[in-house]
Order: sequence, then structure tokens, then C-alpha cells
Amino acid sequence: MLRKTFYIFLLAVLLPLCGCVESKIYKIGVSQCSQDDWRNKMNDEINREIMFHEDAVVEIRSADDSSEKQIRDIRYFVDNGFDILIVSPNEAAALTPIIKEVYESGMPVVIFDRNINGDTYTARIGANDVALGGSAAHYALHLLDKGAKAIEIFGLRGSTPAEDRHEGFVKEFEAHGGTVLASVAADWRQEDAELVVDSLLKIYDDVDLIYAHNDRMAIGASEVARRLGRDEIKIIGIDAAPEIGIRAVADSVIDATFLYPTEGNRVIRTALAILKNRPYERETLLPLSSPVDLSNADILLLMNETLKEETGKMQILKNRIDDYWAQHSSQTSLFYASVAIIILLFGVGFLLLRAYWQRTRHQEELLAQNHLLQEERDKQKLLNEQL
Ligand code: FRU
Repeated sequence: MLRKTFYIFLLAVLLPLCGCVESKIYKIGVSQCSQDDWRNKMNDEINREIMFHEDAVVEIRSADDSSEKQIRDIRYFVDNGFDILIVSPNEAAALTPIIKEVYESGMPVVIFDRNINGDTYTARIGANDVALGGSAAHYALHLLDKGAKAIEIFGLRGSTPAEDRHEGFVKEFEAHGGTVLASVAADWRQEDAELVVDSLLKIYDDVDLIYAHNDRMAIGASEVARRLGRDEIKIIGIDAAPEIGIRAVADSVIDATFLYPTEGNRVIRTALAILKNRPYERETLLPLSSPVDLSNADILLLMNETLKEETGKMQILKNRIDDYWAQHSSQTSLFYASVAIIILLFGVGFLLLRAYWQRTRHQEELLAQNHLLQEERDKQKLLNEQL
């Protein structure tokens, strides 16, 4: 009985030491369709948000604009025991089947930015790209005279923001007397946009505006227009990521850009709400903001610098806290180890003492028996002599 209690106590001391009692850490997999200024901004937000959640880790993978690679990335998250998938699908049609499969297998899926066909997801966070295209058209019409002619540099065919930005722009622009001369895809890339714009400007000599579905393509368009001496053409883009889009506006490379919200923090918070069975919005449509042009580009750049500085400080603080906790937990382990060793020593000492006591008692009994036997023998001896 005593020995049993001793073992139970020992187990209770040793268990925390071997770290067997651990709380759940959620594994969040983020599948980005590409890697660029806009996505870097979003990834920074994701990493910043995750700092506040000790019970979650995140891994971000980029598919580098390849739907095949994105399918492999998604499979990687599924095969490696991730708890939730966050995905921005490169092309709706190509990614819908795998996302549907993952969702139907029971793994929660959050879609952000680009969409799939149908609604086989747990939650979606995105912007209203049709409205964004409409705002771009409004701004363009306000910059130009009636009867303006535009060419549109389309993102990637089959990716939902591009389709929607096109729809919103053309509808609004043409409804107010503008004409879209051509709409050609450049797959979201600056180099492709340069080739497209070069050919288009050689065909059309009366272009007033180039509307590009993102800032990188708008910058490419601007470079070609300047090279061809078509400085009068107004150029607008979308995204307003600070390092590229807003900088291009501040440097007068392009005339305006529209903020395409990233909201990496909101995406992580939604994912955690799903994982912890807390309430969340199934469909979140992010609000749009006013255009970025020369009137506000500088102040936005300044604000971004401040944000970067503050983030740096936060990162330093977080590292310090992590160091502190690492130190604290190694000290706690050391403490438990010392307690366990002391208890073990006591235990061993006790067992040795008990063995010693038992031996002494045994010896005393033997001596007593021996004594009795001797007495017996003496008595017999005496009897024999008498006889
Ligand atoms: C970044 C990007 C942005 C664009 C968005 C649309 O990868 O190409 O430039 O606004 O994707 O999904």
C-alpha cells in the first residue's frame, strides 16, 4: 500500500516534467495564389495577428500563379494534419474541385480575395470587385472629358476579381459616355502588361486612359506609354499596396490607385473563431475606400512608415516575451526535476531503511530462537547427566 502511494506521487511529479500535459495548438494553413507586394502586405498582417494567439501557428505557401502548384499546396496542408485551410484560389474553375473535396471531408475552409464557383466553403472574406471597377470608372470619368476612350489591362481570365473588376468598370464607364477600345489580359504581371500595352498603343492613337486591374500592370503600362511619348494618357490601377502602388502615385508614375483591402488579421480571427466554435460571419464583404491620388499618397506613405516602425517594435517585444517564457519554463522544469530527484532519494532511502529494519528484526528473531535452542540443549544436557 505504502509503495503504491509512493509510485502515484512520483508519477504526479514526473508527468509535468515530460510535457505530457499539453494544450491544443491549432495549425492554420494559408495557400496564397502568388507572391507580390499586395500579398506580402497581407502576409505581414497574418504574421502580426498570429503573435497574439499563443494557441495557433500558421504556415503560408505561395503557388506562384500556378493552379497545379496550389492544388499540391492544399494537399500538403491536408496531409500534414492542419486544422483549417485559408485559400485565395488562383483560378476559380481549376481550384473549385479540390476546395470542395477538402470542405466536404470536414476540414473547415476560409476563402479570401479570389473566389471559387459555388459555395463549398465555411466562410468567405472578400471585397466587392464589381463596385471597385465602378469606382475606377467614376474616377476616370471625372479626370477626363466626355467621350473618353480607354483600354483595359485585364488581370487573369477566370480569376474572379478580374472578371468582376471588368464588369463593374465597363458598365459604369460606358453608361456615362466612355468607350472601352480593348480589354486584354496580362495575367496580373507587369512584364505581360508592357507587351500588351506596347501593341495596343501602336493600334490605337486616341487613347485617353489605361485602366489596369492592378498597380504592377499599371506601372508597366506607364513605362511603355512614356517610352512611346504618350504622356497625356491617364493611368489608373488597383491595390494601393504601399511599396508599389502608393509609391507609384506619389512619384507620378500613375495617376491613381484604389485600395484593395488585405485584412490578413480578420482572416486569421475568422479562422480561429471557426476552430473554437465561436460565432463568425459566413460572408464578409469588405468596405471600399476612396481613391489614392497625389492629394493623399504622401500621407498614406508616411502612415505606412509609422506602422512598419511600430510593427518592428512589437516584434522585438514579442521576442523578449518569448525569451522570458523559454527561460521561465526551463527554470520550472529544473525545479520539478529537483523535486523529483529529492523525492526519489527519499524513496530510495526509505526502502533501504526498511530493508535494514527488516534484516535487524529477522536477526533478533534468529538470535532469540538460537537462545531458546541453546537453553533447550542445556536442559537436555543436564537431564542426560542426571540420568
Ligand atoms: C495579387 C493580386 C493583386 C490583385 C489580386 C486579385 O496577387 O494580383 O494585385 O489585386 O491579386 O486577386
